[in-house]
Amino acid sequence: MQPRKPEFATDYIEETVETFKGCSSSSQSATSELDWAFSVLTEYFRVVKLDHRKIQSSLKLFQSINYLPKSSSKIPYLHKAKPDLEHRSEFEELVYKRASVRWFEKNSSPSIDIVKRVVDISLQAPSACNRQSFEYRFVDNKDLLAKLLKLPGGVTGFADNIPSLMVVIGDYSGYYLERDRHLIYIDASLSSMMLLLAFENFGFNTCVLNWPENDKKNKEINSILNLPTYKRVIMLVAVGKADCSGGVPYSQKKDSSTSLTVNE
Ligand SMILES: Cc1cc2nc3c(=O)[nH]c(=O)nc-3n(C[C@H](O)[C@H](O)[C@H](O)COP(=O)(O)O)c2cc1C
Repeated sequence: MQPRKPEFATDYIEETVETFKGCSSSSQSATSELDWAFSVLTEYFRVVKLDHRKIQSSLKLFQSINYLPKSSSKIPYLHKAKPDLEHRSEFEELVYKRASVRWFEKNSSPSIDIVKRVVDISLQAPSACNRQSFEYRFVDNKDLLAKLLKLPGGVTGFADNIPSLMVVIGDYSGYYLERDRHLIYIDASLSSMMLLLAFENFGFNTCVLNWPENDKKNKEINSILNLPTYKRVIMLVAVGKADCSGGVPYSQKKDSSTSLTVNE
């Protein structure tokens, strides 16, 4: 958050520290993730105001955990402080450089020419039977943007900051069998990942915004966008140029040691 509130996370800090305690004594936890959690919690207690009862009790519990990190600190960093990407292919560089950005420069939405190129790239993604049963709707009109950004829950604190949105819309008319009802989500998601990387390639940053899957919200957004009932919003993507002085959370990823098995 900009500016950061003096006191935050009171709703879930106790649960978070308790979970960290449990995971830190489990042999099934990945070291990289434990190190990340330890770094973030250490930083949290360094910056947060310690007046609240729940923060005080959580700090006490955190201090009682004897955890020794094996790697250097993994806390939020400035967008301009890019990770070290030496000796990587251009594709790897693009992938490792991407991170969700929530703080954007003012008026930094992409031109329609860039948006068209990005969407054309995204449409090269695979889709079931090549049905491509989804579409993109780009919005940078301030009034429409403000209406749309009132709907998702996950934009609290940074909605006003978002210069443009890409709405990803699935189309059920492409899949009429019950067994295929999830395919719009798979197709659109495969394409959306290409969209994120394509924007990154052209110097723009993104953040996927969760679309709450409920009837009321679906009706509201379909009405704003004039969509028929067989079209379903799947996700919103915030798009713009990162404010280089804005913070980016250190999102520790799992790796192949925990997320890959071979011939088992
Ligand atoms: C389906 C989906 C929904 C998401 N919803 C939100 C959201 O509502 N608000 C938000 O700030 N970030 C949202 N994100 C971004 C994730 O928090 C982010 O991708 C994750 O923390 C990993 O960070 P990274 O993208 O920098 O690697 C969403 C991501 C996905 C894939």
